[in-house]
Amino acid sequence: MDRRKFIKKGVIASAGIATGFGILLGNPSCKGANERITLALVGCGSRGLGCIISCCKLNANVVIKTVCDVNRTKLGRAVSEVEKQLGYAPAKVENMEAIFADKDVDAVWIATPEHWHMPATVMACRAGKDVYVEKNPSINIWEGRKMVEAATKYKRIVQVGFQNRSAPYALSAREYIKSGKLGKIVTVKCYNMLGGGKWQEEPETPVPEWLDWDKWLGPAPMRGFSPSIVHENGRGDWLSYWAYSGGGLADDASHVMDLARFVIGDPDHPISVYGWGGNHIFGGTRETPEFQTLVYDFGKFTLSCDNACATNYMTKTPGDVRMDPTKFPNWRNNATRTEIYGTNGLMYLGRHGGGWQVLGPDNEIVAQEGGIHPDKEHFVNFIDSLRSRKRPNGDPEECHRSATLVHLGNTAYRVGNKQLLFDPASEKFTNSEEANILARGTYRKGYKIPETV
Ligand SMILES: NC(=O)c1ccc[n+]([C@@H]2O[C@H](COP(=O)([O-])OP(=O)(O)OC[C@H]3O[C@@H](n4cnc5c(N)ncnc54)[C@H](O)[C@@H]3O)[C@@H](O)[C@H]2O)c1
Repeated sequence: MDRRKFIKKGVIASAGIATGFGILLGNPSCKGANERITLALVGCGSRGLGCIISCCKLNANVVIKTVCDVNRTKLGRAVSEVEKQLGYAPAKVENMEAIFADKDVDAVWIATPEHWHMPATVMACRAGKDVYVEKNPSINIWEGRKMVEAATKYKRIVQVGFQNRSAPYALSAREYIKSGKLGKIVTVKCYNMLGGGKWQEEPETPVPEWLDWDKWLGPAPMRGFSPSIVHENGRGDWLSYWAYSGGGLADDASHVMDLARFVIGDPDHPISVYGWGGNHIFGGTRETPEFQTLVYDFGKFTLSCDNACATNYMTKTPGDVRMDPTKFPNWRNNATRTEIYGTNGLMYLGRHGGGWQVLGPDNEIVAQEGGIHPDKEHFVNFIDSLRSRKRPNGDPEECHRSATLVHLGNTAYRVGNKQLLFDPASEKFTNSEEANILARGTYRKGYKIPETV
């Protein structure tokens, strides 16, 4: 059957919409290399749309049956873009539950803002769908644990969009450190020193006709629409609000800390975090801070993270370096680098590609490996996992631990720039009930997630 006919047939077959968290539909759990894998996209911003199309181009026998968005402009554009790039038009829906109820859909690609990641993932798992979910996977610690539980309980492949875990250069850095050549780890320093300026929320306006605002908010508290939060064509500044995200720490620093955790061997949670931050630079009104610095105690070493949207002279790894394995970043002004200080040397590690280099006592390079941006490897690994049923590189348990660093750091800031003690086993704070309330979150009526997924 050709692709067009397949899609048309699929649209007709997708009738029947289930509601709420009770749906559980059967779905074949394993597909051979020659069998078709059917994807659906929830959240048609530039990230989700670009990645799912790229995934279909990279992998044979993978198609997009349906695209879903609550922004009708982006939804329409997604249909035409898929048609332009892949040669067929997917169906479009405004309610993700239609996708979960569709027996043809094998896997759901979730690229909404962060506050929808966990509810959509849990619903998809309950419906028997595999999942690709963008980072940061959760907006609080409890959510991350529920995602792990849902993947385990329903035996679903869940690939988190921490793509650095699929980078060959990340693996070789991990092996280098494991071999002992860097010596004992003394400290790990993560940087996400981006540019920015003073931010103010624009006044509320009537909800635009292109948007289902109620569904966009979903589990978050109801509030009036502001053009600051959502844009018709671009992303909007939802990253400035705790209800929808973990700010810059969740957006970019999460990648840096996840990659750092990966290369040092994925340690368990830290036992404390000290966080300091604020809007003391520009005095803007964003909820998520303009700058924060965090120190995590892992028992035998510390990991720190500096996260800013105020250092305009720093640069993310340039495009030519990202895609050329023979080039390395200029580490000194690289905004998203990690420095791993061992007893024998200092490893610089890039996060969009950029590879790694180890410096010795005379500033000489004692070891290095280049590397390119690993999105493609991550998409291939996802499809391989769907077919083999092997755990994907973006394993939800490890990605939950990385996401927890974001939540710990933000919580330390939100309770007043404090040191919080954390029990890794129970995933609870032991010296702040206020912090434990933030670690659990609250959900709007109609969107409550049950304790048992
Ligand atoms: N892994 C990476 O390197 C990387 C890079 C960029 C973005 N991201 C992540 O990808 C996600 C999307 O980023 P983006 O830049 O495309 O954001 P975006 O805001 O432009 O797109 C999100 C889309 O989700 C839609 N949406 C919101 N609620 C919905 C709902 N209930 N049902 C269906 N659609 C809904 C929005 O209308 C919007 O079109 C974010 O979580 C972001 O952090 C990851």
